[in-house]
Amino acid sequence: MAEQEKLTFGVIGAGRIGRLHAQHLSQRIARADLLMVSDIDEEAAQQCAEACNGIRCSTDYHDILSDSDIDAVLICSSTDTHAQIIEEAAAAGKHIFCEKPIDHDLGKIDQALAAVEKAGVMLQVGFNRRFDANYRRVRQAVESGEIGEPHLMHIISRDPGPPPIEYIKVSGGIFLDMTIHDFDMARFLMGSEVEEVYAAGAVRVDPAIGDAGDLDTVMITLKFANGAIAVIDNSRKAVYGYDQRVEVFGSKGCISTANSYSNTATVQTQDEIRRDLPLNFFMDRYVDSYLDETEQFLQAVLTKSPVPVSGSDGRIPVVMARASRKSYEENRPVRMDEIE
Ligand SMILES: NC(=O)c1ccc[n+]([C@@H]2O[C@H](COP(=O)([O-])OP(=O)(O)OC[C@H]3O[C@@H](n4cnc5c(N)ncnc54)[C@H](O)[C@@H]3O)[C@@H](O)[C@H]2O)c1
Repeated sequence: MAEQEKLTFGVIGAGRIGRLHAQHLSQRIARADLLMVSDIDEEAAQQCAEACNGIRCSTDYHDILSDSDIDAVLICSSTDTHAQIIEEAAAAGKHIFCEKPIDHDLGKIDQALAAVEKAGVMLQVGFNRRFDANYRRVRQAVESGEIGEPHLMHIISRDPGPPPIEYIKVSGGIFLDMTIHDFDMARFLMGSEVEEVYAAGAVRVDPAIGDAGDLDTVMITLKFANGAIAVIDNSRKAVYGYDQRVEVFGSKGCISTANSYSNTATVQTQDEIRRDLPLNFFMDRYVDSYLDETEQFLQAVLTKSPVPVSGSDGRIPVVMARASRKSYEENRPVRMDEIE
């Protein structure tokens, strides 16, 4: 049978990330046809639809699920809605791309993944950093043995500034909200599962973050099944901008990545040599990766091949986040199997 040429989409949630995905689907991905966008905020839905060639919009995502012309949905609404929408979308026979995290609760994740399995639809989770050219090159070096057996890894991931306190309160905490990307990156780059974490945490940026029950500065040691060790360091505020770097050190060498910049210019004077700050935040730094992850989801669905980031890949970082919080609270190393 000839391969289907185009995939039709609906986007659920037209906030920051939903608008970006909708724009990619409608303007940058030739084989995608975005038919409808939905948001409980009518204005957000309308504005997004207008920016996407005036497609249909709705305040009720069920209008997308019941539209038989739509093959796949992108779930970009607030995290607390993901699991429920996955279940309903699967039952409606839609293929699903869901933003991270699937949920904060492992029981809800399992229920959603079971619904996907039962319906026989495809699900990809939005761990976009895997599609970033820098990190892909690091993965290639580890996978091909270019740097030998990996021994140590250092993931540096610092935001330019913290989100509003109202967001912090519902975010699930730094491990579930921010480090979750780095947990995924750690598994992806190392190609091995994490068996144990040991987390230290502090409030160094804003006492209000501590008052909200969260941390803003964390360092997590990871031990992998292959014997390697890694460290992830996160801060909610790096005054010089978004700091996203990684280094893997192995028996035959080392590979590291630098930050990305808007230009390569350096200014040289008698006092100093300087350059502009790194790209400011994820919408700039990772924009190409968001495009690529969606293209690969579309390709997987059209060719009926495995998606590059599975439901299980979505679940494991949540276990790692829960283990890290427990480790911080109990001030001891925590094994992943303590969380299951
Ligand atoms: N992969 C990434 O790098 C990345 C980056 C940002 C956000 N995210 C994830 O994407 C999701 C959205 O984040 P955001 O920053 O765009 O948030 P946001 O608050 O800007 O947007 C969320 C939107 O969802 C809408 N919404 C809420 N409930 C809805 C429902 N039942 N039906 C339809 N729309 C609904 C809200 O009205 C809002 O417009 C979160 O899960 C977040 O973790 C991922």
